[in-house]
Amino acid sequence: MPVTTIIGTQWGDEGKGKCVDAAAADADAVVRFQGGNNAGHTLVVDGEKTVLHLIPSGALYDGVDCYLARGTVLNPETFLEEVEALRDRGVDMAGRLFVSQNTPLIMPWHIEMDAARESGEGAIGTTKKGIGPTYEQFVARQAILAGDLRRPDDAIAKIEMFYGERLASLRANWNGEGDPPFATVDQAVERFRRRHEQVYTRLVPFISDVETELRERIRAGDHIVMEGAQGTYLDVGMGTYPFVTSSHTTAAGACTGAGVAPRAIDRVIGVCKAYTTRVGDGPFPTELPVDSGVGRHLQDVGNEYGATTGRPRRCGWLDLPMLTEAVDINGCDEVVITKLDVLSGLDEIKLAVDHADGEPVYETFEGWQNDITDVRDTEELPENARRYLEFIAQRLAPFDCTIGQVSVGPGRRQIFEY
Ligand code: GDP
Ligand code: IMO
Ligand code: MG
Repeated sequence: MPVTTIIGTQWGDEGKGKCVDAAAADADAVVRFQGGNNAGHTLVVDGEKTVLHLIPSGALYDGVDCYLARGTVLNPETFLEEVEALRDRGVDMAGRLFVSQNTPLIMPWHIEMDAARESGEGAIGTTKKGIGPTYEQFVARQAILAGDLRRPDDAIAKIEMFYGERLASLRANWNGEGDPPFATVDQAVERFRRRHEQVYTRLVPFISDVETELRERIRAGDHIVMEGAQGTYLDVGMGTYPFVTSSHTTAAGACTGAGVAPRAIDRVIGVCKAYTTRVGDGPFPTELPVDSGVGRHLQDVGNEYGATTGRPRRCGWLDLPMLTEAVDINGCDEVVITKLDVLSGLDEIKLAVDHADGEPVYETFEGWQNDITDVRDTEELPENARRYLEFIAQRLAPFDCTIGQVSVGPGRRQIFEY
């Protein structure tokens, strides 16, 4: 299928990076269309682990072009560090990594604002990467865009015009002791000039008209993977508001975020863990305590610690009504079930099949004890694992959706067709 969108169906960290890396083997290009370096996408190839925050998960294939479209927000320092870290490991992104001229830039005051808010009563457990405040300034039509770095005087004019308003807001959100440490307008301009000379100029060669090029490539029949970040229930519109990120993480976001038409998308794949995790605050109906028992098992065996902030992830059972709603919202043709191997060794496995009075209603399945990380065929799975998957597949069927693949380990090859 020429254009495939891959998104998370839960609260992020479903294994999207791994699935995109697997799909990129047959792709010409991979596109990030929303979010920023709040994402942490893990690829494991020949036992070597790579965590990407900003660069698309097609990076490890020499022949795959990588795009950051205008729906993303970009921290120039993080971006350049990631490019350099890849280069140090022999992965050269030169000539195959492109940043949209319309991508809003994360500036120091956005990160300061994120931290200031997170230290107050309205905290929601963000990654403190400045994501929300950057999208806010963009929606206010005041953002500094990547393309402005080609004409630094334009960016400086914007800082002179708009930073005063941000500064007032920063001061209003300051919860620390003593004088707020924020830059004045003059200092912010000076800081920008310095960073422009030292850092931002190095971003300029990557900047191009990404959206026009993508539409041309789609028309030419190129195989393109749209790589979602975060997950459906972190979508600013459809998620568990206000405990969400500030972008459209659902499949529709690929269109607005990359400037392509809905009809250009041929297939949508939803990535779903065989259980559920969440980082940050907010509701989580099937959550389990992680100090002992199954919650501890999921966190330990699943190594459920954030790829971006290192925070322990909250863990719980898979929630089917939430999954089918996500499938419906995103129009998923297929779901990839990841981390099935993490359930090995449990005596019984619960699956939320309904919600009553806000509480999950569970169906209980017998577990399996065998290690399944070397399984590459559904028929080789323990019978109890197949029963669990079959139950999920039956619930997806009314939505014209199937289980497409099953992942049984972090490695690139630990995935097979269901
Ligand atoms: P993403 O944000 O959706 O790309 O997911 P993350 O990379 O943040 O988190 C998923 C974690 O699970 C990473 O450490 C992956 O290497 C790992 N992973 C992915 N698929 C599997 C799987 O099938 N089994 C196991 N055990 N680990 C997996
Ligand atoms: P990937 O792409 C899991 C969560 C944060 C917080 C909320 C808002 O790796 O799946 P933000 O910094 O975006 O303003 O934080 O969203 N969050 C994620 N949780 N995986 C992610 O990305 C996340 N990106 C943001 O923990 O609850
Ligand atoms: Mg992640």
